[in-house]
Parts: sequence; C-alpha cells; structure tokens
Amino acid sequence: MGLSNPATALDYRRLAQRRLPRFLFDYIDGAAGDELTLAANVADLAALRLRQRVLVNVESVDTRTTLAGEDCAMPLALAPVGMAGMMARRGEAQAVRAANAAGVPFTLSTVGICPLDEVRAASTKPFWFQLYMIRDRALIVALLERAWAAGCRTLVFTIDLPIPGMRHRDTRNGIGGKGLRAALLKAAQLLPRPHWLWNVALRGRPLNFGNLTEQVPGARDLTAFWAWVNSQFDTRVTWRDIDWLRTHWKGKLLLKGILDAQDARSAVKVGADGIVVSNHGGRQLDGAASSISKLPAIAQVVGTQAEVLLDGGVRSGADIFKALALGARGVLIGRPWVWELAGAGVAGLRDLLGTLQRELKLTMTMAGVTRVADINASHIDRT
Ligand SMILES: Cc1cc2nc3c(=O)[nH]c(=O)nc-3n(C[C@H](O)[C@H](O)[C@H](O)COP(=O)(O)O)c2cc1C
Repeated sequence: MGLSNPATALDYRRLAQRRLPRFLFDYIDGAAGDELTLAANVADLAALRLRQRVLVNVESVDTRTTLAGEDCAMPLALAPVGMAGMMARRGEAQAVRAANAAGVPFTLSTVGICPLDEVRAASTKPFWFQLYMIRDRALIVALLERAWAAGCRTLVFTIDLPIPGMRHRDTRNGIGGKGLRAALLKAAQLLPRPHWLWNVALRGRPLNFGNLTEQVPGARDLTAFWAWVNSQFDTRVTWRDIDWLRTHWKGKLLLKGILDAQDARSAVKVGADGIVVSNHGGRQLDGAASSISKLPAIAQVVGTQAEVLLDGGVRSGADIFKALALGARGVLIGRPWVWELAGAGVAGLRDLLGTLQRELKLTMTMAGVTRVADINASHIDRT
C-alpha cells in the first residue's frame, strides 16, 4: 500500500517508522514484557460491536463537550508522552499548536523535551501538565508553580509508575547502553535516517528534559537525564500524598493510571476531580487487563462524583464512541499523536485530529445519536 495519502492513525505509524531511528520508533511503539496488555487495549476495543440505528433525525450532530471544565470540540485530549520532542522537531510545541487548532487539550509530560515556557509561548490556550511524583518534593513544588504560571489549570498526576516497566524492545535496541558496542548499535540505527538527523537531532536542539534542566546540572545527554529520573521515581507514594499535592495545586486534579474499581473509589475519596482509566498504554504491568474492559465497573463506582476519562488503544472515532458508550466522559490518545507528528509533522497531526472528529460524528450519525452526552451502553450491540 502506498502512503502518499495517509488516512488512519496506523498509516501515520508506518510513516513514523520510515522516518525515525529504530530505537525511537520502538520506544513509542513498544510496551512492557510480552506486550500483552498493549495488544489487549486495542483488541478489546475492536471486539466491541456498535448498534446501527436508522430513521433517526441526525441533521445536527454535535461532538462538543467539556473536559475538566474546558470546552472541547470533541471528547479527546492528547495524553502526556515523554520525549515527544525526540520524535519531531520541538515536538511538544508543535503538538500544542495542532491541539489548539482542533479545539482539544494538550498535556505536557514532566519528561517532555520542550519546557513549560516554550509550550506556553506556542499555545493560545491553557494546556494540561502531567506530573510524576519524584523524590525531591521541593522540585515538585517548583514545577507546580511553573506550570501554574504557564497557565496550566489541570494537573494530570500519573500514579501507575512507581518504577518504570521493563520494555524489552528498548533493551534490544541498546537504549541506555554504554560503551563502544552501544555507540555502534545506535550509529547503525541513526545513519539510515538522515531526515531525522537533520530535522530533529540538529535543528531540534536542545534535546534534554526541558522542565528538569536546572535539576540535573551538567547532564549533557538524555542518557544522563534518564539515569537521574529513574533514580527519582518515588516508590513510597500513597493515597495520603494526594492531600499534600492538593495543598500545592489549586487547579483541577486528574489521577491517571487507575485500573481497579477499588482504587477508583479511593480516588473519589481523596477528592480527585477526575481519573484516567489507564494502564499506561501497556507500558507498565504487562498482563494487566485492557483499559476498556475495566471501564464499566469503574464508571459505575465513580458515577457523577468525578470525571472518568480513558486511554489505551484508542485509534479511531469509533473507539472514542465505544469508550463513551461504556461510561467515559472522554479519551486520551498517546501513540497516535506522536506517530502523526513524527511521520508528517504538524499537518499530519491536524489531519488525524480532523479525521477522528469526523469519524466520531459519522459513528454518532449512524448510531442515531446527536449529542455526546446521549451516548450510552445501549449503543453497544450485546447480541
Ligand atoms: C512513548 C510514550 C511515552 C509516554 N510517556 C508518558 C509520560 O511521560 N507520562 C505519562 O503519564 N504517560 C506517558 N505515557 C502513557 C500515555 O500518556 C498514555 O497513557 C498511553 O500512551 C495511552 O495508550 P495509547 O498509546 O494506546 O493511546 C507514554 C506513552 C508512550 C507511548
């Protein structure tokens, strides 16, 4: 199949594969362990069947909604993705522009390449900031202050990464390796990718963790940053720490990485404004259930006490519809937005966001529902 007219997220994935050095493509594409949970995220969404309905007045179908109190053109936000600026030149700044144009929220990762100020300068709207709990609490307070000053009003606090999952593709590709062998392995992956070398490695500098440069003085490359970040993940965090976080963040708080109804109950109890049902795109506990399979029970426990978002495996407008039908208020996409940006730049991402919205609208039209608030479990075919 030719790729001159990419149509779907997976088309852009193939474009990204052609442009990126293998270790970067695999860093995005891969997941933990045998990648069972990654596969389940996609397969379980695909297995759901929609009810086709006819002769309903669908003259005016509206995909708009609100997420975390913000008006959105459709129930979708860009998920936090670390190191997106390694995949496309100043990737996070490009992505926020595309998100603005499409009318959806963008989330900047703690370990993004572009710092908060750069994303703020590129953006015409408030964006979301994602936080990992790191051991240095003074640093967290400083990050939260900078995020607030940059206009962020929604904090996505990621709680499913006490330590990073084991991602075998990264090991095979020599990510984090040292010495001559690792250098040669990397060079062999870089040389066939002159476009990336010119466009990102040279013109996209500095390639470091923009929000953490002061904290890792002297770090010259991403390997040094990773070593620091990996030593900083705080394995002692519990529900009690959410209270502490609350005292330093007066905006909306979304807890990302919940996959269990009991944990969802705890999230409501600590006063989260929302949760993201997520297994980190299968990058953490391999063998955990798919996000979509856990959504109905979690949505039931949470009810109207907090907003329920979902990520993991969402690749089309029909997937967005399915997540809403099973109780989500909205979805986040991770890999797709990075594939588009890496494969075709900001135009690719704008194209995909447009496609997702059109697909959602089409799905609503043929399922006979005109407002996102009216999408519910009755739209799933159980027969
Ligand atoms: C390359 C990559 C980097 C990620 N980095 C982060 C991160 O820095 N913070 C975070 O909370 N989640 C991170 N995630 C998880 C995403 O936010 C999201 O949960 C996941 O990608 C959703 O699944 P999907 O890729 O199937 O859409 C990352 C995911 C990928 C693929």
